[in-house]
Amino acid sequence: MLDRVENLKSQVEATVITSREEADMFRLQYLSKKGAITELFKAFRDVSAEDKKAFGAALNILKTLAEDKHKAALESLDNTQTVGLSGDLTRPGTPHELGAIHPINAIRDEIVDIFKRIGFNISTGPEIEDDWHNFSALNFPEEHPARDMQDTFFVQRNPDWALRTHTSSVQVRAMESIQPPIRTISPGRVFRNEAISARSHCIFHQIEGLYIDKEVSFVDLKQVLMYFAQEFFGKAKIRMRPSYFPFTEPSAEVDVYWGLENEIDYKITKGTGWLEVMGCGMVDPNVLKASGIDPDVYTGYAFGMGIERIAMNRYQIPDIRLFTENDKRFLEQFKTGL
Ligand code: PHE
Repeated sequence: MLDRVENLKSQVEATVITSREEADMFRLQYLSKKGAITELFKAFRDVSAEDKKAFGAALNILKTLAEDKHKAALESLDNTQTVGLSGDLTRPGTPHELGAIHPINAIRDEIVDIFKRIGFNISTGPEIEDDWHNFSALNFPEEHPARDMQDTFFVQRNPDWALRTHTSSVQVRAMESIQPPIRTISPGRVFRNEAISARSHCIFHQIEGLYIDKEVSFVDLKQVLMYFAQEFFGKAKIRMRPSYFPFTEPSAEVDVYWGLENEIDYKITKGTGWLEVMGCGMVDPNVLKASGIDPDVYTGYAFGMGIERIAMNRYQIPDIRLFTENDKRFLEQFKTGL
C-alpha cells in the first residue's frame, strides 16, 4: 500500500500543469471523488491496524502535495492570463489619449525656432525679480508709473522683489553675464496687476529679443523684424511707429501689413489692414552701462512681443482666459499641432 502512495507521489511531482484544462485533468485524476488519492483514502479502511499510522501520514502528505500543486498552478495561470498572450485577445484595449501642445507653447516654439535659425540662443531668467533687473537697470526713473502698485505685483515680505512685469529683465541678466556679441531670445511668463477680461490677463507670456555687438544699427533691427514677419506671418511688409520705452532709444511699435481682403482681415486689423505685433528699439546707452557694457564700443537692439495676442490672432481665439482654464474641449482642438 505504501508503494502505491509513493508511486502516486512521484507521479504528482512529475506532472507539469500549463493550462486550465491540464489543471482540471489533474484535479479529476487525483483529487476528485473518483480520483486516485481519494480512492486510496477509501482503501485506508482495509489497512491493518499496525500499518494505519504510517500509511495515514504518507497519504495526508500526498493529498496536501497534490492540493498545493493544483492551487499554485491555478494562481500562476491567473497571473499569466492578465499579462500573457493567453488573455482574451478580442477584448477592446484601454484607449491611450494623445495630448495636444498648448497653443502658447506652440507659438513660443515656432518663434524661438525662427530666431534660432539666424543664430539667436535662448536665455531665461527668474519670474520673481528684483527691482534692479526689472526696472532700475532698464532705465526706469524712480517715479515711473510702471513701478506703481497698479502694474506690478510686489512681494509683500520684500518690496525690492516683484513678479517680473516683462521679459526685458532677462536682457539685463544676459548682458551682465556675457560680453558681446550677444544674440539671445528670452521666452517667459510675466505678470501685471491688471483686471482679467477677455482681452487682458494678469499672467501672460512674452518673448524678448536682444542683439548687442559693434555697429549694430536700426537697419539691422528692421531687417530682422522683416525676416520675422515673413517667416512667422508670411507677410513681407512692416511699419515702425515711434513709441516710448525707458530702455530703448529710439523706440518703436511694429505693425505687420496684414491686408484687407476679407471679413476676418477687417476683424483682425480693426479695419486698418495693419496688425500691431511688438515693441522694439535700440538699447538705451544707460542700459548698456548699467549692465557693464561699454556704450562707446557697443550698440544693440531689443524687441519684445506678447505670445497670447499672437496666438489669439493665429487661432482666432476670442478670449484670453481660455489659455489658462484648462478646458479639455478647448485644448483638444490643438491636437493637429502635434
Ligand atoms: N518690455 C516691453 C513690454 O513689456 C517690450 C519691449 C521689449 C519693448 C524690448 C522694446 C524692447 O511692453
